[in-house]
Amino acid sequence: MAVDLRPARASDVDALLAIEEAVFSTDRLSRRSFRRLIASPSAAVVVAEVQNEVAGYCVILFRAGTKGARLYSLATAPTHAARGIGQQLMAIAEGETTARQKHYLGLEVREDNHRAISIYERAGFRRTGTRSDYYQDGTTSICMKKPVLRAKESMGEPATPSTGSSFSRAAARTSGRAIL
Ligand SMILES: CC(C)(COP(=O)(O)OP(=O)(O)OC[C@H]1O[C@@H](n2cnc3c(N)ncnc32)[C@H](O)[C@@H]1OP(=O)(O)O)[C@@H](O)C(=O)NCCC(=O)NCCS
Repeated sequence: MAVDLRPARASDVDALLAIEEAVFSTDRLSRRSFRRLIASPSAAVVVAEVQNEVAGYCVILFRAGTKGARLYSLATAPTHAARGIGQQLMAIAEGETTARQKHYLGLEVREDNHRAISIYERAGFRRTGTRSDYYQDGTTSICMKKPVLRAKESMGEPATPSTGSSFSRAAARTSGRAIL
């Protein structure tokens, strides 16, 4: 199955909203939020496309003046689940984090989202704390972090993600900046 990873466009918003509807029961991103994120220079919205259909997406936030990026959202449409799309999107998120010279990627995940937690842990994320009453339904979040930029890379040598797709590695090496 060929998966094409590319920056989201405004025309993807309907498909992104359909994924939100299918996989999240609370805290869904709205049409307005997706539009803003896609247009924002401090966010990267990446879609995974399979046969011209949006099969998944991730959103990464980059705040100026901080050493970390945030994996704000990640989802795969149920019809495309368990085919490696989530892992590919995570690799892109790490590549984007490195390309923007951020040192780590952080995220929040519902404490009852055992599948996502185990995927993140296997990808090298570690728990750093919890936030009670974080989600709209009162569920606690688990904060997780993964270092992605090695010390020598932050000194000016070419950035290479500690893991990541060859796509993002190549982009980071050749341009030295974010691909999106
Ligand atoms: C979490 C999520 C993005 C994973 O996406 P995905 O495309 O199915 O993930 P992948 O196919 O890359 O699978 C990653 C791993 O999870 C496993 N996995 C995926 N779906 C699974 C399932 N239904 N049951 C058990 N294991 C599963 C895969 O086997 C793989 O494990 P491996 O590394 O040992 O092979 C997806 O389940 C999702 O959208 N969930 C709802 C939204 C969500 O919870 N997002 C995260 C919020 S922080």
